[in-house]
Parts: sequence; structure tokens; C-alpha cells
Amino acid sequence: MSRQAEYQALRDRHVPKGPSHATPAFIKEAHGAVMIEVDGRELIDFAGGIGVVNVGHSHPKVVAAIQDQAAKYIHTCFHVAMYEPYVDLAAKLNELTPGDHHKKTMLASSGAEAVENAVKIARYATNRPAVIALDNAFHGRTLLTMTLTSKVKPYKLGFGPFAPEVYRMPNAYCYRCPFGLKYPSCDVACADYLEEFFIGNVAAEQTAAVIAEPIQGEGGFVTPPPEYFAKLQAICRKHGIVLVIDEVQTAMGRTGKLYAIEHWGITPDIITTAKSLAGGLPLSAVTGRAELMDKPHVGGLGGTFGGNPVACRAALAVLEVLLGDGLLARAEALGQKIRARFDALQKRFEIIGDVRGKGPMLAIELVRDREKKTPAGEETKKLVKLCYEKGLVLIACGNYGNVIRTLMPLVITDEQLDRGFAILEAALQEISPAR
Ligand SMILES: Cc1ncc(COP(=O)(O)O)c(C=O)c1O
Repeated sequence: MSRQAEYQALRDRHVPKGPSHATPAFIKEAHGAVMIEVDGRELIDFAGGIGVVNVGHSHPKVVAAIQDQAAKYIHTCFHVAMYEPYVDLAAKLNELTPGDHHKKTMLASSGAEAVENAVKIARYATNRPAVIALDNAFHGRTLLTMTLTSKVKPYKLGFGPFAPEVYRMPNAYCYRCPFGLKYPSCDVACADYLEEFFIGNVAAEQTAAVIAEPIQGEGGFVTPPPEYFAKLQAICRKHGIVLVIDEVQTAMGRTGKLYAIEHWGITPDIITTAKSLAGGLPLSAVTGRAELMDKPHVGGLGGTFGGNPVACRAALAVLEVLLGDGLLARAEALGQKIRARFDALQKRFEIIGDVRGKGPMLAIELVRDREKKTPAGEETKKLVKLCYEKGLVLIACGNYGNVIRTLMPLVITDEQLDRGFAILEAALQEISPAR
């Protein structure tokens, strides 16, 4: 029996079936954009642990920072005895997030926890209960964030009742416009619709926050048009509503900029980050306007593991790599390469209905026919499986599971990228022969 098969049997015996797997791979080592399976096979990684290793697997600078910090102290709890890496990282994030106003940052452990805290802060600051999220949103798996999440299967099915005072409005999904309109003649009506939403769904004066991802990650890399966020923000400001931008998946250079929202040129009230922030260690951050962040009383925010010092040191190293080692510029160039590859594939493969995203955070949406846009969910599953068999790790997303997304480490070499695309192309050819 192979080691892989042996561990699959042990996994099935000891771990519940709930946690799912995009591939059956068991990994013994990972470096840069390559993972090595326990039986020695090399895999090109286009998934990056779901957008967590933007600086690459086991980046030497991140590993060194982790080792150095672990040898000094691993945990004191920020609520018991403070430490410098927490404050240093907060100061860095306050400086780097969009806007030069006074900001403050609190740290937590997971993306969901960051979103929970952002909502707590917005509710406290406004003394209002309601939160508006979008169709196709994904904000996590805790009760509140699962409620904010849109897709029912597998995230919500059977896990209710859900948290109260969460409302959902249509999103800016241009490929499948919920209003049946076309950009730009639509004049981005999906953003203006927020005003109407207050009439039929929840009052503006009862709404604490609107929460949105710049590019919807799990929801299918849905990428709003350029005017979208400025419009949404103007309406939020008019009504004293906190605009929370959830950058858990999109930040840390994923789109070629440190924060994806920079592409839309707005300054959010609160930004949540996690995933690639600490290069693979669990860490998340809530960064927002100081007067908002300071509203909750002493003891109202926090957690035992929040802002763990080893994770903070890893995050400081990640930022150094992204900004100091020119990885953002590399990300930009990588994005152009991937976009060109996807555009060329779309011309050849009828099954690719849409190419979208920003920088190297790109996706292809697979459809059975381009006219009706029938989602090709089963074909996408088959494609992911075929790619794995040929040595490429890919992950799907979208409400219909018919979107292939790129979240590869930004340090991927041109040769690895070419190898990955050659596999993708061969797999596409098998599921849906080119014209
Ligand atoms: C935009 C967004 N928000 C929140 C989360 C939840 O993060 P975590 O899984 O770390 O709780 C995710 C995870 O995919 C995400 O993509």
C-alpha cells in the first residue's frame, strides 16, 4: 500500500468526513510553488493553500522569523503580557492600508474571526443591529460569518438557525447580471440598488455595516466594475453605515496591489485581512478608522490566541518580502501572463465562458454553452481531478462550482507556470475538445 493510500485510510478512520479536500494529496514538503507528495510526486501549486502562501511555501525569510521568535517566546497572550511584534505589525498595517487618516488594528487568528470583530465594532459604534452582505459572498464558517456567507451547499445546509439581522442584496456579477443589464449602459445599477434595498428589506438607520469582498473569492472571483465601490461607499456615508471591505482572500499582493480595494480607489472604514498575512500561520487583522476601532469598551475585543507573536513575526517578514523584495511588481507581471494565457484558452475552448479578476487573482468560468451560460459544474470537477492526476493542483469556486481560480504563490517561476498551463490545457482538451 502506498503511503498516500495508507494515510487516506487513517484519515477516513480518524477524521470526520465534513472537512473536504480539493485533491487526495498528502504532502511531505512544500517550497515556493511546488508541493511534494508523501510518495515523492511533485505538484505545481495553483491553489496556494487557498490564497495563503502568496510569498511561497516555506519562504526562507518567513521561516527564519518564525524560528527566531519561537526560540524567544511562543505565547504570552496579548491580554496578559504585551509584546512588540503585535504593536509593530499593527503600526505597519495602519500605515499600509489605504488612506492616511488615523487607523488602529486589532489582531485575531482566522478570517472569520476578523469579520466577526469587524461586525462587532460596527454594531457597537453605530448602535445598530443590521448587516448587509452580498449574493455570492463568503465570509467564513462561524455562526455569524456562515450567516453572512451566501452559498448554501455545502456551507450552510443543516447548520441553522442562523444569526439574526443579516440581509443579502444582489451583487455586481456582470457575467450573470442579477438585474439583466449590461455594463456600462447599466450605470452600475447594482450599487445604486442599495438605496432601494433600504425600502423593501432593512432601514438604513438600522444598518450598522455593509460588508463586501473586493473580488468575491469563494463566490467565483466575481469582480465588480470600476465605479462600484465608490457608489456603494457614497450611499453608506450618506446613511452613517460602516463599509467593511473583507480582504481576507484578496490582500497581500494577491491582485498585484497590497490591497485589492486599491484598484477601486476607495478608502474603506474597516478592512479585514488574514490568509497570506502571516505566510501560512493563523493570523488575521481588523484595521479601521481609529475613532471607530476605539468605540468598544476595554475587554470587549480579543481572544487567547489573537495576534500570536510567532504569527506576527511571520507577517512582518511577509510584508518585507512583498514590499522589499519586489514581489508586488512580480505579481503584476504574473497577472498579465496568466490573463494572456486565459484569453488565448478562451478563444480555443468553447467551455470557457468568462475570464475575470485582477492581477494574478484570475478565474475562468466554465459553461456548457456560451449562449445560455449553463454552469459546467461536473466538467469543472473532472478538470480539477484530471489536473491533479497530471501534477497540477487547482481549486474551483463559485455558487455552481464551475469557476477555476488562480491563487498560486507569487514566486512561481515562468517554467513552473508554463508547466502548470500545459497541464491545464491538456485537461481542458480532454473534457471539452478545442474548436
Ligand atoms: C473573503 C473571505 N472572508 C473570510 C474568510 C474566512 O477565513 P477563515 O477560513 O480563515 O476563517 C475567507 C476564507 O476563505 C474569505 O475568503
